[in-house]
Amino acid sequence: MNFQWYPGHMTKAKRQMQEDIKLVDLVIELLDARIPQSSRNPDIDELGKNKYRLILMNKADLADKDATDAWTGFFREKGYFVVSLDARSKNGMKAITDSIMEVCKEKVERDRKRGIKNRPVRAMVVGIPNVGKSTFINSYAGKACARTGNKPGVTKGKQWIRLNKSVELLDTPGILWPKFEDQTVGLKLALIGSIKDEILNTDELAIELIRFLRNQYSGILKERYGISEEGELSQVLLCIAESRKCLTKGGELDYSKAAALLIDEFRSGKLGRITLELPDHYRREKDV
Ligand code: G4P
Repeated sequence: MNFQWYPGHMTKAKRQMQEDIKLVDLVIELLDARIPQSSRNPDIDELGKNKYRLILMNKADLADKDATDAWTGFFREKGYFVVSLDARSKNGMKAITDSIMEVCKEKVERDRKRGIKNRPVRAMVVGIPNVGKSTFINSYAGKACARTGNKPGVTKGKQWIRLNKSVELLDTPGILWPKFEDQTVGLKLALIGSIKDEILNTDELAIELIRFLRNQYSGILKERYGISEEGELSQVLLCIAESRKCLTKGGELDYSKAAALLIDEFRSGKLGRITLELPDHYRREKDV
């Protein structure tokens, strides 16, 4: 499958981010825990150099826990602070503030030595589309916090959310563009729903998903749909169609309907917690 997805507005987004990053101490980078590598744009290392960095592996509720642990270890080894979370839940948010303070310890200490008290850490959230940036900002900021902007001392046109006495968050997240180094990156982004479905061949996508699941999460399709996982990939999809009564108006098995259903159930976590890629040294045959 050939992925040609590069929205034109990304150049503008990048320029905007370069400007916004100048205003913050800390860059909070959201990744999708199901594809931490493929949902990460390595340019962020250049864009965010000289800034404190925190990686949030979001949608961890949908990812394989062992794989998330492996990725956490991988990024920590590289020197990043990492937290995994479900941005829809407000539960983990206190831990985020603790992590932010830990990451920015040096700045807080430096301020203290200079006699500057209560100067909040300024942070911004970045990540590729659909990774959960807005959800995270909403959960983290909650209702209670004040949005500030266009006040003396506040950059014109910028909205800051004062989270508590220690942290201020830029209201608008920075949008990163996925990096299509190879076709498997595009495939993984498509599977998690980061590429508009209208430009995808859903049938092919479903076949690739079956291939991956059969190799790496053997038994998962059998359990969910009560089918045999053996044989041709297209045959397995037909079995899913049969099992879920995906039929055309004429009463034939509807291959495309089954493909859409399978992808939808994968994305919503109904097939279980699945991660599509592992860090290099963990790599069994687990990647798509
Ligand atoms: P963005 O700003 O980065 O573009 O992403 P956004 O917050 O809009 O989130 C994209 C979708 O991902 C939303 O679902 C959101 O609810 C979901 N989401 C965000 N964080 C998590 C998470 O940690 N776990 C899970 N399971 N889902 C998460 P949606 O279907 O587009 O909208 P809605 O149905 O929630 O309204």
